[in-house]
Amino acid sequence: MQKPSKTLEIISTGIRGLDRILLGGYPRGALILLAGNPGTGKSTMAAKFLYEGGLAGEKGIYVNFVEPKKDFLVHMAMLGMDFTELEEKGLFEYIEALTIVDEDALVAQLEDILRRIVETGAKRLVIDSVTAMLQIVKDKAKIRELVQNFFVNGVKQMDVTTILIAEHPYGAKMVGYGIEEFIVDAVMILRFEIVQGKIRRILELRKARWAPIRQAEIPFYIRPGIVVELSLPEAPQEVPALDLSSRYNLAKALLDLNKAARGELLGNNTCRLHVGEEGVYVIPRGAQIVVGHTPTLDAKHLISLLTAALLVSYKPRIALFSFKSSPIALRRLIGCLLSIGCGRECTNELLSNVYVESVNPTAFTFTEIYDIMRQFVEAVKPDILFVEGMDIIEQFVQRNEYLEMLYNLMLSNKRERVTSFYTFSARDAEAIYNRMAASMADVMIYVEEPHTIMGEAASIKQSYIVEFAGFFGRVERKISLNVELLYKHRCIS
Ligand SMILES: Nc1ncnc2c1ncn2[C@@H]1O[C@H](COP(=O)(O)OP(=O)(O)OP(=O)(O)O)[C@@H](O)[C@H]1O
Ligand SMILES: [Mg+2]
Repeated sequence: MQKPSKTLEIISTGIRGLDRILLGGYPRGALILLAGNPGTGKSTMAAKFLYEGGLAGEKGIYVNFVEPKKDFLVHMAMLGMDFTELEEKGLFEYIEALTIVDEDALVAQLEDILRRIVETGAKRLVIDSVTAMLQIVKDKAKIRELVQNFFVNGVKQMDVTTILIAEHPYGAKMVGYGIEEFIVDAVMILRFEIVQGKIRRILELRKARWAPIRQAEIPFYIRPGIVVELSLPEAPQEVPALDLSSRYNLAKALLDLNKAARGELLGNNTCRLHVGEEGVYVIPRGAQIVVGHTPTLDAKHLISLLTAALLVSYKPRIALFSFKSSPIALRRLIGCLLSIGCGRECTNELLSNVYVESVNPTAFTFTEIYDIMRQFVEAVKPDILFVEGMDIIEQFVQRNEYLEMLYNLMLSNKRERVTSFYTFSARDAEAIYNRMAASMADVMIYVEEPHTIMGEAASIKQSYIVEFAGFFGRVERKISLNVELLYKHRCIS
């Protein structure tokens, strides 16, 4: 990351993603204007700055001209920010300035704030909102004087980093009175976009005196716990090379499970597969794998087989993210396969390493789906990830949005060294190899139509050939999965 000038002390904004685009955060003592339409997240974003400061031992003062303290505390607590605790430790103070109606009272209030800063050593300040504050002053000339005295000659000189919230009515061109924009060091505007009936929150970065602005519009979201996070593109330079010394041998794992299942799991032609063929069926840790499969195969059967095999052989933490199957269905299938392959006790133990999340893609914007997936991976910290039904996403979102999402998802999983399998339904292997996803993946697997099985395996109903290709070259040999087993053992009915 590019570092700003040495003389500038930069402090974190408390918001993930924002620090990266602002070269680490806000300069100490900066004035930040945070403007936006009603309900866009201004108070939340400003509060997060004070909250993170408080956790790091820096005191913050929140001055509110519009919202009573009680409401503020409840809203923030619902997002996971406990300001009461910070207040008890002397790291937070809320000044309720709802009753100030005339200029004299305002000046007295502002002087009191400056005094509190000196007395308590507060380092961070939020004014919610500067619009409401300035409406108290009737004389326009006085406004300029007040802004200059309090902000530029006051808090800025005291090295207090201040967020000024400005209310931006719908349709208004100017942020506030047109004065604030020029005196501040940064201008950020929050707004909504409606995409296919869903809200997409956008942060517009208009000005940042200390940092170059490349991406002017950045999607963000509000969610309890994380509170606010910006969705930024991944940086490929931060992605480490694949760790070739640590690998998963898929074929061996499948064969071992097959042995435990008394040879029922794989088709007859597996006798042609030699487990010693290291470097062919092995998958390096952190690889991104595109798994294409014939539309007649249910992806959940395939990923359950692979999950069970990998669990028995390597005992990894496995996360499954599905756009199609419910967590109950997936866990049941995997549990059933494990009990065939390793018995009851072992099943319970291994199942505790499996985490499943299902999402209906029509309920979210594509950036949110991406963020939900990333957060899931971040929370579970799996060794292996299966994403079931990427082809569904492909059909729901615009092509460029989808590619952007897939590209960033693969990079972020690779950066975190999560070996990730993404399943796509496709009519044949070529249809998968021609996809953009293929050029981003490290390994390709295609699971063919059953009727293309040659010779002795042709008699196996519901059996699919797995073809490995990619990282170590395309593989001629094939193994066949016997999905019939799942019915036979009543894993599916
Ligand atoms: N628990 C929550 N989970 C997700 N989003 C939430 C949650 N609580 C609040 N929000 C979202 O946060 C938004 C409110 O943010 P905030 O109050 O910071 O906006 P604001 O810009 O300050 O609004 P105003 O102009 O009314 O002061 C709401 O629109 C709501 O959609
Ligand atoms: Mg607000």
